[in-house]
Amino acid sequence: MDALMTLRSDHQRIREMFDQMRRIEALDAKRELFERIKDELDFHCHLEETILYPALNGAEFRDLLEEFYDEHQEITDILEEIDESDDEEAAMFEDDMDELMDCVEFHISREESELFAEVLRVLDGPRLAQLAAALEDSREKLAVA
Ligand SMILES: [Fe+2]
Ligand SMILES: [Fe+2]
Repeated sequence: MDALMTLRSDHQRIREMFDQMRRIEALDAKRELFERIKDELDFHCHLEETILYPALNGAEFRDLLEEFYDEHQEITDILEEIDESDDEEAAMFEDDMDELMDCVEFHISREESELFAEVLRVLDGPRLAQLAAALEDSREKLAVA
């Protein structure tokens, strides 16, 4: 199986949840959907940081990976900001949510265009298979935890 397929399908699921978020109007329904988005993003970023990013471990990738880690940090910060806010103001929530969606959409399209290409370029067949197995393993363990 393609090692990057499950990560791509995570990205797709996240994009679909964002589309849904843009269609929903009621604030309580948006908040509920936000909880699912947060869980999904936390889980996905964790998988990438523990398995995908370390697979690119040469010096040539240091700067590139640092940017991706920084983008995760930015995403995590916005998620926490929204999570901790108890404002009843729909407008505030909308602004924060827009910022989150822009940030995540930018990040995942960069991963798909820049990072995944590097992974496929430098990892050989057996290492890609290892990567796929490690992702699947971790996904199963974390899903039941
Ligand atoms: Fe990521
Ligand atoms: Fe990703």
